[in-house]
Amino acid sequence: MDKNEKINWDELGFEYIKTDYRYISTWKDGEWDDGKLTEDNMLTISEASTSLHYGQQCFEGLKAYRTKDGSIQLFRPNRNASRLNDSCKKLLMPQLPEEKFIDACMQVVKANERFVPPYGTGGTLYIRPFIIGVGNNIGVKAAPEYIFCVFCVPVGAYFKGGLAPVNFMISDYDRAAPFGTGQQKVGGNYAASMEPHKIAVERGFADCIYLDPATHTKIEEVGAANFFGITHDNKFVTPKSPSILPSITKYSLLQLAEEVLHLEVVEGDVFIDKIDEFKEAGACGTAAVITPIGGIEYENKLHVFHSETEVGPITRKLYDTLVGIQFGDIEGPEGWIYKVK
Ligand SMILES: Cc1ncc(COP(=O)(O)O)c(C=O)c1O
Repeated sequence: MDKNEKINWDELGFEYIKTDYRYISTWKDGEWDDGKLTEDNMLTISEASTSLHYGQQCFEGLKAYRTKDGSIQLFRPNRNASRLNDSCKKLLMPQLPEEKFIDACMQVVKANERFVPPYGTGGTLYIRPFIIGVGNNIGVKAAPEYIFCVFCVPVGAYFKGGLAPVNFMISDYDRAAPFGTGQQKVGGNYAASMEPHKIAVERGFADCIYLDPATHTKIEEVGAANFFGITHDNKFVTPKSPSILPSITKYSLLQLAEEVLHLEVVEGDVFIDKIDEFKEAGACGTAAVITPIGGIEYENKLHVFHSETEVGPITRKLYDTLVGIQFGDIEGPEGWIYKVK
């Protein structure tokens, strides 16, 4: 984007915009180099890179928030650093020191400060760190070299006209295997979700809900977000499974539900044939924030929770608390906020 071009904050969606700088570091001969910012948004890699053929790559997603006093802050970037390392471990990729991850995110946000949306617009700067296997290799084995890159794009408020519920359908397909890579943030899971997502959108739903791949009886993920439900007796319930991505938003909500809203919290099985036990439900994640679920289509019937048009009171309170902490209006638990200095 041209240095003098003005950004229309109200028109931002979730689209790629070339910002001014990105951070790149290379791993070779057993170590990461110092890394640097660059204006070039093109990567030149070997045609025989494992990331291109065998999916040896992983990524993260987090946001920078502009606060009322004009400062900028990140939300729990240490958790993204450790999840990236879990993904690397699973795919035989090198570990990345947490300080290097956070420093890279900080450098990218500072260098692209003009793209951090003003407080009050609801917009944020979405940060996308990733690691890819590169170098010359043809067999199915770990790459000889790796690239760690962090870039960012300004994104608009997820809900432009207020918190609006959306409907989901149950997918017949799986995004991950029972003990596969569902817990890791690796590209293959997302490739597997593209067709089910398309089918759901064509049928008029926001996305699909994946059931557990072993038995297809329990709710796992809601598109690219985690699921939570509020039972009629006010329990915050969320699935636990080896094929779900451990959402940082979800674990933050579990803590806030317990400590701030004083709800009983349960991480366990969420059977699809028992969804009428919930009076409210939502999808949560960095991009989705908290998206209220109006209804879920299951066995040709739409099971509506609170309402198809209005957000429920507990979901609203969770949303206000989480977003209040992220934008610096409410003090959160210790260690959640990292100021960009
Ligand atoms: C499959 C999937 N589940 C859940 C989430 C939510 O995770 P988080 O709250 O850490 O963004 C994401 C987004 O990162 C995701 O891609």
